Amino acid sequence: MSCEPSRTLHSLATAALLAACTHQGGAPFSPPTAPADVALKDAGQSVFRYETFGNERFFSDVLGLKDGMARMGITPNDLLAAGVQLDADKLPSEFRLVDVGGGVYGEADATRRLIEANAVIGLVARSGRVGVTCAWCHSRSDDRIHVGVGRRVDGVPNAGLASGQVLAWGERSRAYLPFVNVSRIGSGVSIDIDLDLDAAGDLSRLEAGVDAALRSWPRGQADILPDGVGNPTDIPSLFLLGPHGPYLWDGSLSGAADVSHYFATVVMDPTVLATPPGKAFLIDGPFWPVGESLSRAYQGVLEGIDPTGDWPRAAIFRASVFKLFHDALDLRFRVNRDDIAALTAYLSGVFPPEQDPPPEPEIDAGRRAFRRSGCNECHLEARVAGGAVVPLATLVAGYRQGGEAVAENPDMGYDDRIALTPGEDSIARRGYKVPSLLGLQWSAPYLHDGSVPTVEALLSPEREADAPHPYFIFSLEERRSLAAFLMAWDGRTYP
Ligand code: HEC
Ligand code: HEC
Repeated sequence: MSCEPSRTLHSLATAALLAACTHQGGAPFSPPTAPADVALKDAGQSVFRYETFGNERFFSDVLGLKDGMARMGITPNDLLAAGVQLDADKLPSEFRLVDVGGGVYGEADATRRLIEANAVIGLVARSGRVGVTCAWCHSRSDDRIHVGVGRRVDGVPNAGLASGQVLAWGERSRAYLPFVNVSRIGSGVSIDIDLDLDAAGDLSRLEAGVDAALRSWPRGQADILPDGVGNPTDIPSLFLLGPHGPYLWDGSLSGAADVSHYFATVVMDPTVLATPPGKAFLIDGPFWPVGESLSRAYQGVLEGIDPTGDWPRAAIFRASVFKLFHDALDLRFRVNRDDIAALTAYLSGVFPPEQDPPPEPEIDAGRRAFRRSGCNECHLEARVAGGAVVPLATLVAGYRQGGEAVAENPDMGYDDRIALTPGEDSIARRGYKVPSLLGLQWSAPYLHDGSVPTVEALLSPEREADAPHPYFIFSLEERRSLAAFLMAWDGRTYP
């Protein structure tokens, strides 16, 4: 991981990142401590937890989340059942007086009061609406009061979150169309979607289809690519993020700030895709050639929702006049860069929650096994994030390239969960980036598709011979100490 400024970053953000970088040299896991950094990180924590970037206009006015929840009578118990977490420190007194699950937890009206009190992690009330923050997927409670109710732990993926189910509560969840498997909703398996969006029949079919697709997302996963392909992936942990990735499971974004921009704009308000730069992102960018038909269909959907549409709904062009961001993916949508700089600084210093280390001899044995088994050829011990994207052919024995796999087989296998776009020409590049091994205790299940429940299972030769990530430890004892070593590694003490 180099500490050179990313060419895609604005100088202010770069300065902040370089500040973080100087602290990173030498002692890899010590967080920056200068007072300016502290202030920046505090601001970043608040952005991470509470900033919607204006997306309440998308989630409430367009997708209709607030109205949908009210109409369906979603109670605080329903929120908890969907894996949505509650911040115990912010619970209004009426919630403190009863056991979790009882009384007011079963009342639909109470949901609004919880959200207005900022007690629902990641769902935030703004100007009479409800918006979404990074914390929705990337934080959870420490369960100290009840499962799903406790203190916030940022950076830990919310593995129980049924985000698709919650989005499907929206009255018009078709506003999330670009992220679901459009080939299943439209005709046949072709990615071309020729829906007659004026016909009421098609509209309710479309809404039902998008709802079903969203509900099929496994817990702890979300689909973040507007590629018209249903490929949700595991929510990763966000611990001690360096300014340079690669980031995302397929390593497609290089700068931490770029990732934040991407989530704040595209994922958290996809209406940007119906604007000229957003359309260009679909058509000239990575999603060609599905981009054209997807863009047309999506525009139709949005016009159907609000013919006088003023898109994007979020306040995301505040910084766009600077036009300083043309990287490989041509990400043209930017939010306030000070917010992003603060967010990036904050995420560079978020440690996994502290835990008791295993006994020293066990750590030693685990560390030795890690090195002996060649794990650190890829997972460089002292590095926070990985450095490389490992080609699929390396990770999966007998893998054969199959570019059309997604369209032909919408049921998705290991390789198709990747950020694969239907028109992608260079399939040879497909692979997964080496993820950070920090805080594994908090990020089960493992791999990008959450297919492996424990670290011990990941290393066990009992997985099928052609299982992905075939780096097995054959001795049971060694496997146990290696798993214990890794599970306890929180970035504070070893390797
Ligand atoms: C709806 C859930 C959701 C929300 C909201 C969300 N993310 Fe994520 N995030 C994900 C998922 C899923 C991935 C993995 C996607 C992939 O690579 O396929 C991810 C990946 C990331 C990564 C890459 C981590 C790595 O090691 O590669 C970063 C950084 C990140 N998110 C930051 C943010 C920030 C900052 C926000 C708020 C602006 C945010 N996310 C909002 C679900 C979410
Ligand atoms: C050739 C490079 C390579 C080697 C060698 C390797 N890994 Fe990995 N590892 C990866 C990649 C790439 C992923 C992500 C794969 C995916 O998500 O599908 C990964 C994922 C993991 C994960 C899951 C992380 C998560 O958050 O889901 C763990 C744990 C892990 N590796 C441990 C090990 C151990 C222990 C060894 C040694 C026995 C090892 N790896 C050897 C490349 C490697």
